[in-house]
Amino acid sequence: MLPQKRGQIPSRIAMNCYWKVLPIFLLFLPSSLSLQPARPRVLLVSFDGFRWDYIYKVSTPNFHYAMENGVRVKQVTNVFITKTYPNHYTMVTGLYAESHGMVANEMYDPILNETFSLNKMDVHNSKFWEEASPIWVTNQKEGHKTGAAMWPGTDVKIHGVFPTYYMPYNESVSFEDRVARLIDWFTSEEPINFGLLYWEQPDDMGHVLGPENPLMGPVISDIDKKLGYLISELKKAKLWGAINVIITSDHGMSQSSSERLIELDQYVNRGLYTVIDHSPAVAILPKEVGNHGYDNILPEMHPIFVAVGPAFRKNATREGMNATDLYPLLCHLLGINPLPNNGEYHANATPRSCTATVARLIMLGTIFYLMLKISLSKKNNRGGSAYGE
Ligand SMILES: *[C@@H]1O[C@H](CO)[C@@H](O)[C@H](O)[C@H]1NC(C)=O
Ligand SMILES: *[C@@H]1O[C@H](CO)[C@@H](O)[C@H](O)[C@H]1NC(C)=O
Ligand SMILES: *[C@@H]1O[C@H](CO)[C@@H](O)[C@H](O)[C@H]1NC(C)=O
Ligand SMILES: *[C@@H]1O[C@H](CO)[C@@H](O)[C@H](O)[C@H]1NC(C)=O
Repeated sequence: MLPQKRGQIPSRIAMNCYWKVLPIFLLFLPSSLSLQPARPRVLLVSFDGFRWDYIYKVSTPNFHYAMENGVRVKQVTNVFITKTYPNHYTMVTGLYAESHGMVANEMYDPILNETFSLNKMDVHNSKFWEEASPIWVTNQKEGHKTGAAMWPGTDVKIHGVFPTYYMPYNESVSFEDRVARLIDWFTSEEPINFGLLYWEQPDDMGHVLGPENPLMGPVISDIDKKLGYLISELKKAKLWGAINVIITSDHGMSQSSSERLIELDQYVNRGLYTVIDHSPAVAILPKEVGNHGYDNILPEMHPIFVAVGPAFRKNATREGMNATDLYPLLCHLLGINPLPNNGEYHANATPRSCTATVARLIMLGTIFYLMLKISLSKKNNRGGSAYGE
């Protein structure tokens, strides 16, 4: 189930990127050298339930600004079920839900005889999280610091570890306050290299209104303004352009309808089951509103994905990726060793860092060549060669 690919992948990526970026590199040597980050840093942002195509429903100048300055992936195949906790944990572990254990928002473990409930905010039982090790645990083991603003699981002790800095979950804390904390952590005397930021919208309103409702327009505009606020605060702190920012989501949203209803009671006696999770993967009576949790193949279930920063190309698009691929990408960006995972690292998402590697190689080559030349000319001078005269 878990592909073991440490050891072989890096060399293959290295070969790949030298080959592909060499001509580009020759054109942009000075800028790629200056863009090489002093210390790799990443900010991962999730706007819950931000469907991939919301950016085309209303004017979203800040998303488009980010896209022009970075890479957009058109289709991110998230994991089944297309719910908040399973997908947020996949993003930070690179594992499918059955491998990381967060298989739903509402769970009952018959072996533990314990329940996990997002609705009741009963999510702090470590046992439910410890089938996997999220990226912040690995990041901290490798000597780095993490800061988390409300990302699911970041206020839970997992394998004995909390993120270095984190905010206990409180949905009343404003987006602005969350951003302020992250900027403090990135710029503090003992700075973080990795930040995680979570915001509850547009998921909540998507459920209430349904994604096709025109009233979703102002909700999406508001998220765009929030992204604009984040960008302007990062610019003020001189972090924009210096750190890699990945803006994504856990899932999309689909219009549900009372005409496409399967009435469970017609098939199963209520006395024969307990409802664990009110999700399309179980059975509920939806009104004309939005829902998710459906098959992860459906385009409406897919999240947004935009990445901006020194490691990414500008104004570029990529057709597709799997949500499990985010984790190895994050590990690559942070320079930490990934644990075994279900994802794959795609070198062409980050050719700039390859460019930097090639730049380093060519720089070394140039220095070596100059040294060789100097030592040769010294030798020649000593020998009173014709070249010296
Ligand atoms: C499960 O836990 C509940 C209390 O939370 C208890 O009443 C019940 O007896 C337990 N069941 C088993 C099988 O241990
Ligand atoms: C949650 O945040 C709000 C707004 O900052 C605050 O007023 C409230 O006291 C917080 N609740 C808890 C339990 O900390
Ligand atoms: C971004 O790329 C598109 C085509 O892919 C092009 O039309 C547009 O002008 C580019 N924008 C910038 C700011 O380079
Ligand atoms: C996603 O993962 C599946 C299964 O490993 C693979 O067949 C598919 O090519 C991947 N898609 C992308 C876009 O990498």
